[in-house]
Amino acid sequence: MNSELKIDSGLCMGPGTHMVPLELFDTNRKRLVDRLKTKNAPKNSIVLLEGGNDVPVHDSDITYLFRQESYFMWAFGITDPGCYGAIEVDTGIAHIFIPKFPAEYAVWMGRILEKDEWRNKYGIENVHYVEDLNNVMNDLKPSTILTLKGMNTDSGLCSKEASFKGIENFNVNNTLLFNEIADLRVCKTKLEIEVLKYVIEISSAAHRKVMRYVSVGKTEYQCESVFLHYCYEVGGCRHVSYTCICGTGHNASILHYGHAGAPNDRKIKEGDMCLFDMGANYYGYASDITCSYPVSGVFTEDQKTIYNAVLNANLAVLSSAKPGVSWADLHILAAKTLLEDLKKAGIVKGNVQEMLKDGVAAIFQPHGLGHLMGLDVHDVGGYLPNNPPRPTHIPGVDKLRTARILEENMVLTIEPGCYFIDHLLDHALKDPNLSKYFEADVVNRFRGFGGVRIEDDVLITKDGAVNLTKVPRTVEEIERWMAGKDDDKY
Ligand code: GLY
Ligand code: MN
Ligand code: MN
Repeated sequence: MNSELKIDSGLCMGPGTHMVPLELFDTNRKRLVDRLKTKNAPKNSIVLLEGGNDVPVHDSDITYLFRQESYFMWAFGITDPGCYGAIEVDTGIAHIFIPKFPAEYAVWMGRILEKDEWRNKYGIENVHYVEDLNNVMNDLKPSTILTLKGMNTDSGLCSKEASFKGIENFNVNNTLLFNEIADLRVCKTKLEIEVLKYVIEISSAAHRKVMRYVSVGKTEYQCESVFLHYCYEVGGCRHVSYTCICGTGHNASILHYGHAGAPNDRKIKEGDMCLFDMGANYYGYASDITCSYPVSGVFTEDQKTIYNAVLNANLAVLSSAKPGVSWADLHILAAKTLLEDLKKAGIVKGNVQEMLKDGVAAIFQPHGLGHLMGLDVHDVGGYLPNNPPRPTHIPGVDKLRTARILEENMVLTIEPGCYFIDHLLDHALKDPNLSKYFEADVVNRFRGFGGVRIEDDVLITKDGAVNLTKVPRTVEEIERWMAGKDDDKY
């Protein structure tokens, strides 16, 4: 190695943006080898991960904006496509394998970096070309190559198992790594928490900006554009964690509105509720925040009723979440709190416990309470073999992306909601087992209302949940903020 070269301290988008220290990835690799040793990884084994590749737009020569594969990012912090990484389990020594580009690459993509420069950029001592992977492995002579193979329990899709020409001549174990690395990703390190705090803070500020921008006559996508611009211009966030959901009026009841067939293109009307679910992404680390408020900046009585019911559910969970508590129990706490308030408002009637059992809460909130968050917005490790299985004891609880017992340093969203979804209401009002719980006239008055979701990003500490989201949340706070007050508060 050329000793003249200084190792960079991290990944950063320039002045004013957060420096993601290379130590973050080094720490993750150390955690991984320590864990694998406790799981009796074979002596002299090597972890091999394959990074993501550029994805062409259909058959064209244009590619989608690249985003690194999350397991690879977690271990190596490499933002370039087409790489592999290896870790010798006994020693923790890391290797990266980089693409060898033709000379013409320099014309289109810029000067081709030397191996020393990759060392410098990513702080990894051993840099090889991908084409030499087989030779390097032959030199290292691992007893076993540990590859990543497993299913994402949210998408049902499988991780891409590393492979190279010649791997068939090695002993490969693809059963040990996945559960361990997925489990390690669940609890965040101090350095990861710093990145998450940063991206949540940027997203919070962008949401606050949108709250003051929104007005009757604007289109939903104009609000989206204000969010995107702020996160990129101020925060250096080149990506968002998911397609922005900017539902207003009736669209606020469409859980994943904003997709290509409904691209946030409605003109905002007087009296609308806005439900804006948007989260920036910084070097892979996600945020996921939803703010709901009236376009007018002042809540009507009906808007206040639904908003406060959801806020009470959110706050009940926030004050109860701490290590040792079951996430499934918190989902039920939120559902119960919501139903109690909807009952007080005369929207539903009957015994709350029976309503829960019969699935009334899931008519109003047909999604889970929230999810783990990290390098994926719906982060991995929700249902690993040693965790509580997907619960089914109450309708709706099966939608949870995890039912784990909370642990210190988990980062999750708390996102209760209440929506008036015609499809579900029609079904409920026709079903005698459900319709008995509904005040049909009142429910019908709310058709077209849309919905409310209040989504916060929280860190579990030993003393409880800390809300990292910094946006106005109470009715009064929202009204004050939208009226141009409280500039110094957030
Ligand atoms: N934005 C997707 C979600 O809230 O889970
Ligand atoms: Mn969200
Ligand atoms: Mn979410």
